[in-house]
Amino acid sequence: MEVVRRLEAAARERLDPAVFAVFAGGAGDEQTLAENEEAWRRVWVRPRGLVDVAHVDSSLTLLAHDLRTPVLLAPVAAHALVHPEGERATARAAAAAGTLFILSTRATTDLADVAASAPEGARWLQLYVERDRSRTAAVLARAAAHGYARIVVTIDLPVAGRRERELRHGDVILPEGITVADHLGGTGSAETKPLGGWDASLTWEDLSWVREASGLPVLVKGVLTAEDALAAERHGAEAVIVSNHGGRQLDGCVPTAVALREVADALYGRLPVLVDGGVRDGADVLRALALGADAVMIGRPYVWGLAAGGEEGVRAVLDAFTQDLQRAMALAGCPTLADVAPDRVRLAGW
Ligand SMILES: Cc1cc2nc3c(=O)[nH]c(=O)nc-3n(C[C@H](O)[C@H](O)[C@H](O)COP(=O)(O)O)c2cc1C
Repeated sequence: MEVVRRLEAAARERLDPAVFAVFAGGAGDEQTLAENEEAWRRVWVRPRGLVDVAHVDSSLTLLAHDLRTPVLLAPVAAHALVHPEGERATARAAAAAGTLFILSTRATTDLADVAASAPEGARWLQLYVERDRSRTAAVLARAAAHGYARIVVTIDLPVAGRRERELRHGDVILPEGITVADHLGGTGSAETKPLGGWDASLTWEDLSWVREASGLPVLVKGVLTAEDALAAERHGAEAVIVSNHGGRQLDGCVPTAVALREVADALYGRLPVLVDGGVRDGADVLRALALGADAVMIGRPYVWGLAAGGEEGVRAVLDAFTQDLQRAMALAGCPTLADVAPDRVRLAGW
């Protein structure tokens, strides 16, 4: 989408090249990073004509949240690296656009400050589990106390992927006064690398611990196979998020458009399915919904908005996605999201 490309160019201009590489890059040769975007283009929309689309409605209820758009903001680390307002600006933009913000464990703003900056905004907390469980339990208790409605456990980072582009640029130094939050109300850490004391021995059995420690429903992010979708269901996940971490973890792993079909088929509507990775315009959102997603998340596109224009920039990206989706829905003959059914797409080459 033109708006996103323009904001990405502006972000590239503004940011230090090493910082830009952190946000733009992926793991290894960046095969999966590229394929995430490409794979949506291999899904063709089958539009239907002469449907009354005088009113197109992109609103939905997702896990008890009333949202104006199915485009949510994925958890992305360290927003203050691209804009001084950091996650506060992002949370305000999400609330103003009527969507949901998922705060990263590796945010540069404490979860209480993010909640206070957009008290009415719908918010979930993404979780990496520390080896020291008492610290993670304390974070979870604070999240519940500050109105985070769900915990999103990311399962695709037992260790960090090897991000060659980042490595070529060398270490990013956090600017004076900026730290990665510990979400315990403390001063956090100046370390930008994602591997602190995360627990690489985590298994499906630990999901119930997260649920109990937080008292909140748990979603699993990073599901790419039917097997893991069914494991998530068996272990009490409320929903699954099809994701490969934006191509930053296992290079060569399946693009999310392809994985989405497998996961949606396996779950057969029993659990809500979300998806992220390479979603770049309204048609991509439509394709994802038709392939069985209940909502999508974007990562890099809103980071470019934040870098280029703070809260307004994120808002511009969200508005552009929603308007583009509504136009795509009208052109495909889908007045509501419920009309975006599997028969609205076919796979290229079939
Ligand atoms: C710079 C960067 C940092 C990220 N940090 C996190 C994180 O802390 N936790 C997490 O679960 N996912 C993280 N992700 C992955 C995103 O949540 C999301 O899966 C991905 O960005 C979606 O792909 P897209 O950027 O192509 O839209 C990060 C992604 C990027 C680009």
